[in-house]
Amino acid sequence: MNRILVTGGTGYIGSHTVVELQNSGYEVVIVDNLSNSSTDVLDGIASITGKKPAFEKVDCRDKQALADVFKKYPDVKAIIHFAASKAVGESVEKPLLYYGNNLGSVLNILELMGEQNVGNLVFSSSCTVYGQPDILPVTEDAPVKPATSPYGNTKQIAEEIIRDAVYADNRLKCIALRYFNPVGAHPSAAIGELPNGVPNNLIPFVTQTAIGIRECLRVFGDDYDTPDGSAIRDYIWVVDLAKAHVIAVERLLGNKNRKGVEFFNLGTGKGLSVLEILNVFEKTAGVKVNRKIVARREGDVEKVWADPAFANKELGWKAETSTEEMLATAWAWEKALAAKRK
Ligand code: NAD
Ligand code: WQD
Repeated sequence: MNRILVTGGTGYIGSHTVVELQNSGYEVVIVDNLSNSSTDVLDGIASITGKKPAFEKVDCRDKQALADVFKKYPDVKAIIHFAASKAVGESVEKPLLYYGNNLGSVLNILELMGEQNVGNLVFSSSCTVYGQPDILPVTEDAPVKPATSPYGNTKQIAEEIIRDAVYADNRLKCIALRYFNPVGAHPSAAIGELPNGVPNNLIPFVTQTAIGIRECLRVFGDDYDTPDGSAIRDYIWVVDLAKAHVIAVERLLGNKNRKGVEFFNLGTGKGLSVLEILNVFEKTAGVKVNRKIVARREGDVEKVWADPAFANKELGWKAETSTEEMLATAWAWEKALAAKRK
C-alpha cells in the first residue's frame, strides 16, 4: 500500500490535499501539532471522502516522536511537508520561533528520510522567494531575491537545505512547489481556511467583512504602478493547488530514476489587483464590502503573477477554476462558519 505522510495536514492547504489524496486512492497519515488547526478538520475531511485519515498529534521539531510515526506506519512512501508557521508579520516579531519551527522541522524530516529510507518529498514553498520579480510573469528560473521577512527567509533557506541534502544523498528526491496566493475552500464547505484572530490575508478579511465580523477592509495602497493603483497577485483556488500535490507525489513515486530537486510555480498565470478581486467578489456574492484605501503595507511587493507553463507542461496540471468560482467557495465557507456559530 502507498501511504503518504502529510505534515500540517489539518491546516488549510494540507486538509484540501488530504481530500485529493484520499480521493485518488492513497492512504494518508497526518502529522500536526495543532498549533494552527484543530481535529475538527478530520471530521470535515471524512464528510467529503467517507474516511477519516490517520492522525498523529506530533510536533515536527520532536525528532523522536516523528521517528515513532515512521515506525508505526512502515508503508509511508512519500512525505508532503506543509507544517510551518506562516504569518509574515508575526515572523518579524518572533523570528526565532519561525527559524526554529520552519527550519527545525525541515531538518528533522530530511534526517528521517535518510534514516527511514523514504526518499520522496514534496515541499511547500512560496512565490515569496521571488520578491518583486524584474520580469513578469515570473518563471522558476527567476532569481531568488533577498527575503523581506523571517518567514520568507525560512522558505529560501529551506529550499537550499533541501537542495544540499538531496545532492548529498542520491536516495532522496524532492519537488518544491512555489504557491502563489491560495484562496477559497472545498465546494462542500466542509473544510476551508480558519484564520487565527484577525486575518492577515486578503480573502478571509474580505469574507469576514462581508459577513459583518470586520467593519471595514483596508486596501493597502492605491498608488502602485498598476492600472488601478492597487497591488496585483495571482490568486489560485486551493483545490487546484491540492490536486497539484497528488500529481507531484505520483511523479516522485512513478519514476525511480528521477533525481534531485524540481521547482514548480503553482499559479494561474493571471494577475488581479486588490480592487479587481473586490469587484469580482461583490458581484459573485451579491454583497458590498465596506472598504477604505490606506497606506501601503510594509514589505508588500507591487505585482507578481506566475508563469505556470513549466508546471502545466511537466506536471500536466493546470489551474483552470475562474476567479468567480473560487471566490464563491470562499463565501460559501464563510457562511457555513457563520451558520455553525449560531
Ligand atoms: P496552516 O497554518 O493552515 O497549516 C499549517 C499546519 O501546520 C497547521 O495545521 C499547524 O498546526 C501545523 N504546524 C505548524 N508547525 C508545526 C510543527 N512544528 N509540527 C507539526 N505541525 C505544525 O497553513 P497553510 O496555509 O495550509 O500553509 C501550508 C504550507 O504552505 C506552509 O508551509 C506555508 O508556509 C505554505 N504556504 C502557504 C501559503 C498561503 O498563503 N496559505 C502560501 C505559500 C506557501
Ligand atoms: C494580497 C494583497 C495586500 C489584506 C502573503 C505572504 C506570502 C504568501 C501568501 C505564504 C496584497 C492586499 C491584504 C488586507 C489588502 N504566504 N491586502 N488588505 O501579501 O500577497 O502574500 O500570503 O507563503 O508569503 O506574504 O497575500 O493575502 O496578505 O495580500 O489590501 O487586509 O491584498 O496588500 O496586495 P500576500 P495577502
